[in-house]
Amino acid sequence: MNGRKDNLANRRQAILQRLTEFSKPSWVWEDQMPASFDRIIQCAPDVFANNLNRLPHEFAHSLAGNKLFELSMLVDLAEKVATRANPHLPGGDVYFNKGLIEAGEKPLRPDMPRTAAVDLIRRIDSEEAWIILKHVEREAGYRDVLENCIRDILELSKSQLLRKIKWFEAILFITSPNRVTEYHLDREVSWILQLQGDKEIHVFDRADKDIVPDDELETYWTADNRAARYKPEYESRAFVYQMRPGSGVHIPINSPHWLRNKNNISVTLNVNFQFHDRYWANLYRANYYLRRAGIEPYPPGIHPVSDGFKSAAFTAMQRVKQAVKGRPHIPAEAREQNRRIAAMTGAL
Ligand SMILES: [Fe+2]
Repeated sequence: MNGRKDNLANRRQAILQRLTEFSKPSWVWEDQMPASFDRIIQCAPDVFANNLNRLPHEFAHSLAGNKLFELSMLVDLAEKVATRANPHLPGGDVYFNKGLIEAGEKPLRPDMPRTAAVDLIRRIDSEEAWIILKHVEREAGYRDVLENCIRDILELSKSQLLRKIKWFEAILFITSPNRVTEYHLDREVSWILQLQGDKEIHVFDRADKDIVPDDELETYWTADNRAARYKPEYESRAFVYQMRPGSGVHIPINSPHWLRNKNNISVTLNVNFQFHDRYWANLYRANYYLRRAGIEPYPPGIHPVSDGFKSAAFTAMQRVKQAVKGRPHIPAEAREQNRRIAAMTGAL
């Protein structure tokens, strides 16, 4: 146990040391940025590539002050997203909740129509609200922002990521002063860009199994979106970042986190992607059913051959179910998005 804690402490210390080597601001590595390339996302290439989808880290971005993210524009955007004729999610692409909570508490959604988000944004200063607008890249202007961010991410990642990715998405969070966003897990690999206001984010290392036990992840992927359970006894192990306009934080998939706004309105962009299910989700789903059958499964990543077999078997079953229901396993919209991004990036 002590060895694992030492390892975690050493990894954190190494990252901290690497980050503090930079200057103006500390997380930007200007000398290594190509002069002909106006990146939105700016980060030391080795920090970015070495920690991609492994550990959280800070970066800088150039979107603070962009008019697309002013509150008056977000009121119009919320109206469009809330009234979409063909939302991405069956229940609509807007979600909100209200009330002051702490990290381990689950907020309640008020019994109001989704279009109420428009007025909540107008009164965001006093509503104790947390509002999320999903897939904003479907709207004019915001698609360019997402795709330029993705171009930067693929360029900085130095890896053949694109073939593993099912969806790219841009999400906006509009949050009242002093609101806490509860502890949770996400399905995406995320880069969050602070656009307005100040907030603090607490991110945990998913490799720390005291904090993220495998059975909790299996339940999350298979049966319960809210399976993540906050464990205050491990709060001291969190990576804590102070976010302000122009700063960003990378959150690897399944790395739990919670946030606390300072005493001002916060607007945050989340640029993210989801892997195809066969690369991640289906491993946890297969293990969920093995565990229920009384078998203690190997966690993903320990035995690649076993992982390959489990993923292939579960993915084959999943495709049969999708075929029976007449659903494509990759939606046409996602294929089109990938084609555009591949053309833009030269299929990095
Ligand atoms: Fe999140």
